[in-house]
Order: sequence, then C-alpha cells, then structure tokens
Amino acid sequence: MDMSAAKEIAARAALDELPPSGVIGLGTGSTTKFFIDALGVRVRQGHAYVGVPTSEASRQQSLALGIPLLDDLGPWSIDVTVDGADEVDEHLNLIKGGGAAQTREKIVNYASSRNVIIVDETKLSRRLGERWPIPIEVLAFAHAQTARHLTQCGVAVLRTKDGQVVHTDSGNVVYDLRVAPIADPASLDAALHAIPGVVETGLFVARADVVIVATTQETRILRRLC
Ligand code: 5RP
Repeated sequence: MDMSAAKEIAARAALDELPPSGVIGLGTGSTTKFFIDALGVRVRQGHAYVGVPTSEASRQQSLALGIPLLDDLGPWSIDVTVDGADEVDEHLNLIKGGGAAQTREKIVNYASSRNVIIVDETKLSRRLGERWPIPIEVLAFAHAQTARHLTQCGVAVLRTKDGQVVHTDSGNVVYDLRVAPIADPASLDAALHAIPGVVETGLFVARADVVIVATTQETRILRRLC
C-alpha cells in the first residue's frame, strides 16, 4: 500500500467533517500535514477558518498557507480538531505522540467539540500497545528519576534523534514506553499520570469522535457511538 497516498486520502476526507467556517484544531504529523494543506486551499477559496496549532511545525505550515491562527493562551472554543494517530484500537482509543506533540495535542483535543482522527489502515490494532510504545512527555528535570518509575509499567526508552535527545516544543523530553497490549487504557493512563515528572501521556482514551481510515482503495468512517 502507498501509505503516503492513503494518508492524503484520509486527510481530504476530513474536509467533509468541517463546518463551512469556524475554529479548527490543527494536529501534528505527516497525515495532518496533508489536511493543513487542504485547509489552506479552503481558506484561499474564502472559507472563514481560524486555526489552533498543536506544534510549531503545524504553526509554521499554517502561517505559510495564510491560515489565520488564534494565540496559544486560550481559552478556545474549537469546533473540530483534525489530528493523526500512531495506533487506534477497536474502541477508537488512541496512542499519539510519534511527533512528540501529544501534550499540546491533548489540550487542543479537550478544547474541541468534535475530534476527527485521520489514519492509514496500518494504524489499526485490536489493543493499544500491540504496535506502538506509549510516548510519555517528561519534565527535563530529573527525567532519569521519572523514567525509573516508568519502568514499573514497561520498558522506557529516552527518545533521541541523530544521537541527540529529542525535546518537545515545550522543552521537555519524551520516553517511549513499550508495554504489553493494554487491557484497560484509562487505568494505565491514570497510573502514569500519578508519577511525578510525567507531563502528559500519549494515551487518548475515548477522545476520538470520528476516525477516518484510508487505504488507496477505500475510505472507512468509524464513529464513536457514545
Ligand atoms: C504527533 C502525533 C501524530 O499525529 C502521530 O504520530 C501520527 O503521525 P503521522 O501522521 O506522521 O503518521 O501524534 O505527536
């Protein structure tokens, strides 16, 4: 499967989930990048959309496309947020944070009336944790100490890129926590939040209203029932 093509198809399908104008939360990642491109076209066609970006990358892309943005302070009343995911389980719970943006993404997600998640089919699993570790944003201060507590839940690996520790847009670090397939994501999320130094987890439990799953052949729309 051409994954990039599938991501673009999912991103374009998300346009159908938008109101004709309004405040749109802008996720982060390669799939959302296609969505922001498509939203930029809509703005140039005259639609009155205003964005709330979840990362500096999404902010820069949006500004380059002429999408007006709200400031970072909030509070916002976001009509719809469109974002990607690393893993989606059969209850539409998510693992996010492959792009180290999960904290801002979760704040924007909670400020949205509706959340639309766009993925290619490879992101689907039966239980979270089958495919992807949980990205945990951790305060830089004493992060090795925080990681020691994380290892009680799984194997915690400090995220690096090109030999350098990755820092989030907020200056924190990320541990990727490999766990066994998760039976109860809400309980695990609560346990992780109880560890001092944990800023936010990549577990998004019951936070997707719609998941758009694309291959190059078909697009499926999964809706959360309650
Ligand atoms: C960033 C995210 C992304 O939405 C997630 O990693 C999916 O990325 P991509 O669309 O590039 O596959 O959570 O923090």
